[in-house]
Amino acid sequence: MSIIIDEKNLIFNLQTKSTSYIMKVAEDKYLAHVYWGKKMENPDMENAQINRWIGFSPAEWCKPLTRDFLCQEYPTGCGTDYRIPAISALYDDGSRTVELVYEGYKLMAGKPGLQGLPATYVESDSEADTLEITLKDNVKGMKVVLSYTAYNEIDVITRNVKVINESNARIVLEKVVSANVDFEDSKFDMITLPGAWGRERHIERAAIRSGIQEIGSRRGASSHQLNPFFALVSKNATEDYGDAYGFNLVYSGNFTAGVEVDQVFKSRAWIGINDYDFSWILEAGDSFQAPEAVMVYSSKGIGQMSRTYHKLYRKRLVRGKYRDEARPILANNWEGTYFDFDEEKIVGLAREAADLGIELMVLDDGWFGKRNSDTCSLGDWVVNKEKLPNGISGLAKKVNEFGIKFGLWFEPEMVSPDSDLYRAHPDWCIHVPGRDRTECRWQLTLDLSRKEVCDYIVESVSKVLDEANIGYVKWDMNRHMSMLGSAGLDSEHQKEMPHRYMLGLYDVMERIVSSHPDVLFESCSGGGGRFDPGILYYMPQTWTSDDTDAVERLYIQYGTSLCYPTSAMGAHVSAVPNHQAGRVTSLKMRGDVAMSGNFGYELDLMKFTDEEKAEVKAQVAQYKELRTFVQAADMYRIESPFEGNTTAWQFISEDGKDIFAAYFRILAKVNGGIYRMKFVALDENAKYELVGEDKVYTGAELMNIGLVVDFWGDYQSRTFRLKKI
Ligand code: DGJ
Repeated sequence: MSIIIDEKNLIFNLQTKSTSYIMKVAEDKYLAHVYWGKKMENPDMENAQINRWIGFSPAEWCKPLTRDFLCQEYPTGCGTDYRIPAISALYDDGSRTVELVYEGYKLMAGKPGLQGLPATYVESDSEADTLEITLKDNVKGMKVVLSYTAYNEIDVITRNVKVINESNARIVLEKVVSANVDFEDSKFDMITLPGAWGRERHIERAAIRSGIQEIGSRRGASSHQLNPFFALVSKNATEDYGDAYGFNLVYSGNFTAGVEVDQVFKSRAWIGINDYDFSWILEAGDSFQAPEAVMVYSSKGIGQMSRTYHKLYRKRLVRGKYRDEARPILANNWEGTYFDFDEEKIVGLAREAADLGIELMVLDDGWFGKRNSDTCSLGDWVVNKEKLPNGISGLAKKVNEFGIKFGLWFEPEMVSPDSDLYRAHPDWCIHVPGRDRTECRWQLTLDLSRKEVCDYIVESVSKVLDEANIGYVKWDMNRHMSMLGSAGLDSEHQKEMPHRYMLGLYDVMERIVSSHPDVLFESCSGGGGRFDPGILYYMPQTWTSDDTDAVERLYIQYGTSLCYPTSAMGAHVSAVPNHQAGRVTSLKMRGDVAMSGNFGYELDLMKFTDEEKAEVKAQVAQYKELRTFVQAADMYRIESPFEGNTTAWQFISEDGKDIFAAYFRILAKVNGGIYRMKFVALDENAKYELVGEDKVYTGAELMNIGLVVDFWGDYQSRTFRLKKI
């Protein structure tokens, strides 16, 4: 058992391979947070958990002490805790005080799934243990079950919260976060991943200070703008040194996360569904399940925290056959043709792709309805016979004849006002009666809180998938919610729409994905606007960004790797000048950057010169060899683009035998000094062959002295393939 319980003193010690998370019931009533950090067997609880009197925070239950000081596990703002609460509710008499006291616990081997929500999982009960602690508001009959899973071999604690109305009256839940951690001090920097379309998940790091520092999304999606991830790290934390506490929400909709530093410099961190535009009516007997939060502590720096997330997500979040299978190298026509294609063009691209060794031809937007631009037809998932006279099945067949797979783009959650679907069901989109339906990219969001809308999506998408040999689906989503309202909900339940939408989306995805187990699904939202673990549960990879410029991608892929594995990141070589940044980079650098993700090409393959074709063939062959370990490797970030002109990272297989590293220099510097690739995590005493160069070095030499890298010109890259001898 990875959870040790002191029955007498009600102390709960959750243990992973090298961490502990400890709670204690104080005064027989209140669940206090005691410790989260390096593994501890039996700490002296008097020493570990301290409470103090604070002026102007009235003495109360633990006289002369106060709840304003106590580190709490799931605070409600009750009594004299003036810090931000984890939960708020409105009772039928108009009162809002929630007081949760300890009721009991349940311990079980393994990890139960979450009804209707994505979550990490175990394959055998021996992989993890789960502790459920029940708290109850005895005055109002509201029960809160805090669920904690400790993985034995991965340093992860997952949490979720279920609220049950055990009273005879209605309770309106107004806030319910998935995890709260009260730290005894605030000597942390906070790392977040803000961005925008085309600039997703850049890294920001800043010292936390008094008051609330919050990130979140109110866009109805996890968003490009802020990812549902943050870390609190010790001030001295680097990639390989110091403490790092990571928080990530397995959810794809509105979220809130942050930290509050209080008057005595404690800090309260949280992550969960955003309470903005949220409320949930619990009638007598009803329950509400909040999403899962994944918490990782690393005492060995930020890099170790990331690798822990990567491992968990690769092995116990992503599902289906592509969890363990090599991902195909794809060619996507989007940046090559945009809407201007026909069957002949796509078949030509597929022929070329096959000749280059590419394994999958993906047809992007524009194959359905009357869609020759982005102004119409979303929702009408019927092939455009003018462009594709033999239908999708005819096209797929022709592509398959070259010995490669065929993939197709959908944007199932959307409807164009100019579409047959909208004309038939104008009330199926999110809208407020009597107000403008604000369009974004000439489209509206379908109301997935409605069952009939979800059924329509499952049926129309499945019909296309079942009629043709489709091996891959790109699932896009190109706008955020606005003017929130659902014609399917009565006035009292309107604020439930954003979360009901997510439940509908997850249900749709589950139905489509589970009935098409051989299809590789890649999610997308205007690039990486919904790059979160919620979606990864259904679709093992995500299009990282619409920005395909190799330099910009260094930042985006580096930032994304703080939490998400390489195998989750779609990365393609595109044309130059780049369509987003206008920059011209070498084919080599574009290839080297894309090879650090799920590799592909997104350009008009017919435009390659013979020389370029030879280079592309070599890249494709190189990636086929690399992906056998890179997609499942431990990633080490070595030099950060956010800190200078160079970027370096390294992938090492779990057995330590295969290494791939890449070093990039953005701008040329005359007399700019020596550049060295210094490898990490090798075996000092072992010997490594530098593949392709007929050279052998010791691990110590590669790590301590490194290999000199010479560059000429802007936008340069160099890759290294090592094999342990
Ligand atoms: C946005 C995606 O991110 C692009 O890759 C492309 O699929 C377009 N949508 C198509 O409309």
